[in-house]
Amino acid sequence: MRILIIGVNGFIGSNLSQRILETTDWDVFGTDINIHYIKDLIDHERFHFAEGDLCINNEWIEYHVKKCDIVLPLVAIAQPKVYVTDPLKVFELDFEENLKVVRWVHKYKKRLIFPSTSEVYGMCTEDAFSEETSNLIYGPINKTRWIYACSKQLLDRVIYAYGRDYGLRYTCFRPFNWIGPRLDTMESARYGNSRVLTQFITNLCDNKPIQLVQGGQQERCFTDINDGLDALMAILTNEDATNARIFNIGNPDDVCSIARLAELTLNAFCEVTGKSPSDLPGIEVTSAEDYYGKDKGYQDVVHRVPDISLAKKLLDWQPSIPLESSVRSGVEYFVKHYPFRKKPQSFSHRPIIPYKITKKTQYLQIDHKNNVNS
Ligand code: UGA
Repeated sequence: MRILIIGVNGFIGSNLSQRILETTDWDVFGTDINIHYIKDLIDHERFHFAEGDLCINNEWIEYHVKKCDIVLPLVAIAQPKVYVTDPLKVFELDFEENLKVVRWVHKYKKRLIFPSTSEVYGMCTEDAFSEETSNLIYGPINKTRWIYACSKQLLDRVIYAYGRDYGLRYTCFRPFNWIGPRLDTMESARYGNSRVLTQFITNLCDNKPIQLVQGGQQERCFTDINDGLDALMAILTNEDATNARIFNIGNPDDVCSIARLAELTLNAFCEVTGKSPSDLPGIEVTSAEDYYGKDKGYQDVVHRVPDISLAKKLLDWQPSIPLESSVRSGVEYFVKHYPFRKKPQSFSHRPIIPYKITKKTQYLQIDHKNNVNS
């Protein structure tokens, strides 16, 4: 079987490629603008990599959609800080560029495995969010935090419609705060621009306090990447049971406040580095305005828990890795790769743009600034 992974160097792409190469005889065709997380895979005989940008290398990508059996378009900006500082970039990359891929998959009648997100539920107030019955609730337009959720939700809807009306073969999966090695980079964390676990670990490595936004009472269900990969492998190997379905992939059994995550991270950091808690800068409470920027449109969900009954039933899957050990493997990975000898740079004055700006996006940004309807 031939799998195409667009964004193969990312958190899910790099870990999934490794799992596929280790446990199957499939070929992985991958493209990405970076290679730092796949260096160990590059020489593998069944790993076929081409450096490339989803926004530019249309020919390579379309050709490989045609050539492969299953397509995973994993390129996206998935960091909340960027949703509020650069919402148009999120829309352009996460929606527009990925729509292109969905259409190629439809055109060549391939199978699509699409990463939706827990964010699509927004501020849903149910105890546990269900793929088939929960309402998706967002704030007003000036809360730009929801542009990622809207972009992903609209793609879910487009994919669903292609499936229903034209027979597109697809499965969408919704990761609920997957964590583990290679979640973001420590460089992006220095922009304040990574997801919470990498952010906490980077702060500790840089001898800076952990920042608890709004006191950290908001809750998430963190899920180990290896549990997530088990679910993805079940989806990849079982088209009949998973076709035209959306699956929540998360760990509802350990609902964790961000304050507790901070404590777990501090404990793991002390164990891994041999430091004592009194050597560390500790935990600071901050406001969302101070953390994400004043009038930037941040809004949070206070309680996010997946209903995973569908995944249990159709994938025969449930998570098994305890949160403490996931946090610890994240800490071990980043501490090992932390450039201790390098003095951390201060990036605070620089803009946050994690992906290359293409000609197209520059054009769009200029147009929007000039209020031209493009
Ligand atoms: C995430 C991201 O939107 C996506 O990566 C993803 O699709 C989805 O949710 C998911 O992984 O399930 P969120 O859970 O808010 O959103 O992501 P984080 O940036 O990891 O933040 C979690 C919580 O920690 C938020 O309440 C945030 O305000 C808080 N936080 C973050 C802190 O208290 N301190 C920090 O330094 C960073």
